[in-house]
Amino acid sequence: MPDTLTITDNRTGQAYEVPVTDGTIRAMDLRQIKTDEGDFGLMSYDPAYKNTASCRSAITFIDGDKGILRYRGYPIEQLAEQSTYLEVAYLLINGELPTRDELDGWKHETTTHTYVHEFFKTCMEGYRYDAHPMGRLVAFLGTLSTFYTESKDVRNPQSRQENIVRIIAKMPTIAAWAYRHSLGRPYVYPDNDLSYCGNFLSMLFKVAEPKYQSNPVLERALDVLFILHADHEQNCSASAARSVGSSEADPYCSLAAACAALYGPLHGGANEQVLRMLGQIGSKDAVPAFIKRVKNRESKLMGFGHRVYKNYDPRAKVIKTLADQVFEVTGPNPQLEIALELERIALEDEYFVSRKLYPNVDFYSGLIYQAMGFPTEMFPVLFAIPRASGWLAQWSEMLADGEQKIARPRQIYTGAGSRDYVPVYDRG
Ligand code: SDX
Repeated sequence: MPDTLTITDNRTGQAYEVPVTDGTIRAMDLRQIKTDEGDFGLMSYDPAYKNTASCRSAITFIDGDKGILRYRGYPIEQLAEQSTYLEVAYLLINGELPTRDELDGWKHETTTHTYVHEFFKTCMEGYRYDAHPMGRLVAFLGTLSTFYTESKDVRNPQSRQENIVRIIAKMPTIAAWAYRHSLGRPYVYPDNDLSYCGNFLSMLFKVAEPKYQSNPVLERALDVLFILHADHEQNCSASAARSVGSSEADPYCSLAAACAALYGPLHGGANEQVLRMLGQIGSKDAVPAFIKRVKNRESKLMGFGHRVYKNYDPRAKVIKTLADQVFEVTGPNPQLEIALELERIALEDEYFVSRKLYPNVDFYSGLIYQAMGFPTEMFPVLFAIPRASGWLAQWSEMLADGEQKIARPRQIYTGAGSRDYVPVYDRG
């Protein structure tokens, strides 16, 4: 049988053969379907792009029904077990795991670009101590673009690579400084002797000790969380990075847009909302009443549900195991029992089962961050830092894709027809 679709337009009796490739038809192939020569032709209508592929990508594969997630073909479970975030960032951006020399070179590059211009201290002072760190991170990414104006040369591979390194290296620094500013503590400069996450923890939590020593279990837990959050194919924020980047905006501004999208409570902001939800529930005994509110649509079960996963988010499984290791060091998080009770009820309740609502990446991650001493508003920032490598991989792939142009969707116009202007003194 041919890989085509035969479409019969019953308005005209015309039949059209449309090729099927990779399980899709090209929306532009619909434009030939017209009622007469003056007809613009058919478009597809797909609010929120629930059934629209916007690109071809080789970066991340998800099978939502089977709960499968792979970066460049490598299962997330194996990467979480055996890799490091920096190595995964290299994999996402370059497509292959680095050789020893490549990894050493990548580590050197990302380590020696962790400093930011001293002007950033003035930037920090421009915000109240209680300004949300995600709002600041969006701004700081845009500010970084004013320091690296050559990054506008987005078609230059060398410029892209230099600024990819700068962003991955500097995200922890600006995030940590925003946290320190909110506490009124002095900024801690990057320590190039430390690992990516060890340096981040040092810039966050170092006080008077000459050299910060992180707990190896917590440092590794953060590295695994960064691996799990690094990319997730065409999610809302990656699509924002691609869309803004398609106008040839520089990578800093493209990622500022992505960061803004991630901030939303339905996306990366959910990890913060999960902890606020657990706090509002207050105790395990109060869970049934909350579940009732959710089923009455008075509340959402934050950290549950996913556009693609209609099974348990594989990242949530790894995070749940990681939580036990962290709590052995930090002591148990009292809100864990509320979360476990919520999951227990939701996984057997018809309302959630029929809607295929399972815990997603955000359900348990906040419990770990809280146990590690992060304030709730820092949780989306801890999502944005590793996701920067995914956004940059998607942005680079978009620029290299000969099929891509500036993103500019169509619309179905529902507004007023043509009408003449009425001067204000003639209006009713
Ligand atoms: C991330 O896309 C990605 O890959 C994102 C991400 C990534 O790594 O980049 O995985 C990260 O954003 C994870 C999702 C974090 N967000 C939350 O945890 C917020 C709570 N979840 C929901 O808002 C919702 O599940 C979404 C936004 C995640 C998905 O929304 P969809 O796909 O548009 O699904 P929907 O809103 O159409 O829901 C289908 C049904 C509806 O019921 P009906 O109206 O059909 O009766 O399920 C219900 C919804 O009301 N539903 C929920 C629910 N999520 C969906 N009901 C209660 N609580 C929820 N959390």
